[in-house]
This record gives sequence, C-alpha cells and structure tokens, in this order.
Amino acid sequence: MNLPRIRLWWLVGAIFAVFLLAGCSRFANRTAIDPQLAQQIELGQQVYAANCAACHGPEGEGEPDWKTPKKDGTYPAPPHDVNGHTWHHGDGTLLQIIRGGGDSLDIPNFKSGMPAFEETLSDEEIVAVLAYLKSRWPEEERQFQAEMTQKDPAR
Ligand code: HEC
Repeated sequence: MNLPRIRLWWLVGAIFAVFLLAGCSRFANRTAIDPQLAQQIELGQQVYAANCAACHGPEGEGEPDWKTPKKDGTYPAPPHDVNGHTWHHGDGTLLQIIRGGGDSLDIPNFKSGMPAFEETLSDEEIVAVLAYLKSRWPEEERQFQAEMTQKDPAR
C-alpha cells in the first residue's frame, strides 16, 4: 500500500467520523429531556387533574356531545386532544381563555361555560397546564399550533 492511499483512507475515515458524531448528537438532542420542561409538564399535569379534568375529562377527551348546546345555552367542555380544536388556536388566545374564561373573548350572543382561572391559579400554573396539553398532541398538531402561535403569540 502506498502513502497517498493511506492518506485517502484517513480522510474517508475522518469524514465518516464527523457524520457519525453529528448523527449521534442530533439523536441525543431529540431524546434528551430538558429537566425544566419536564418539571413544567409535571406541574401542568397536576394542575390539570385538580382543575380541568372534571369538565374536560381525565384524558382531555371532553364531555360527550360537546358540540350540542345544553339547556342553559352553554356548551359542554370540548376535548383538548386531536379531536378538539384547542390546537387550532395560538398561545395568545388559549392563555386568554384560561386566564379570563371563555367570556373574556367577548363573542356576541355567546355564553361561555369555561371559567376564569386567573384568580385561582398562578401564571406559572396556567403556562404549565398549557404546556401539558401541548405535550399530549402528536407532532403534526403541535407544529400547526406553533404556526398559529406565530400569528397569535403569548400575551
Ligand atoms: C366548569 C367546567 C370547566 C372547567 C373546570 C374547565 N373548563 Fe375549559 N372549557 C369549558 C367549556 C364549556 C369550554 C367550551 C367553550 C366555551 O363554552 O367557552 C371550555 C373551553 C376551554 C378552552 C378553549 C377551547 C378550546 O379547546 O380551544 C381551553 C383552552 C380550556 N377550556 C382550558 C381549560 C383548562 C386549562 C382548564 C383547567 C385549568 C379548564 N379549561 C377548566 C369548561 C370548563
């Protein structure tokens, strides 16, 4: 084996190693759990179980027949999962609904059954419960919602 050939193999090996490392670090990023985020989701889960699950369901499945108004004109609680429309809205609207209740949107001729939580939950808890809801959406819905948030950012 002559010298240039050995050098060539070194080069091929080095390039391969760089790609391998790049691949590994990308994989590591995807699987790494940001402990702060994990804590936020855990807090959100507790907040959800204690304050939201009674209406929106323990798994965010919503109330049965949530599209049919009740006798008092309010609607049953909708699901937060892919079957609902929570992921259709940006963070700005979602935070406003959780903080100020459904009536804070001032929709004409509409009486909301969604209570306001700004008096009972801290802002940290409200942001955490939203993070928890997001953590349960599949990638596609999460990405769609992130695009909506660009037009309707957290306020
Ligand atoms: C008393 C029942 C009730 C409780 C408790 C409740 N909700 Fe709701 N929520 C509703 C109803 C009913 C709606 C449907 C929209 C409306 O009537 O305004 C709604 C709507 C929403 C919406 C907007 C609709 C959507 O999917 O885009 C969000 C977000 C939401 N709720 C989050 C929460 C969170 C988070 C909690 C707990 C902190 C919570 N809700 C607790 C009844 C409830």
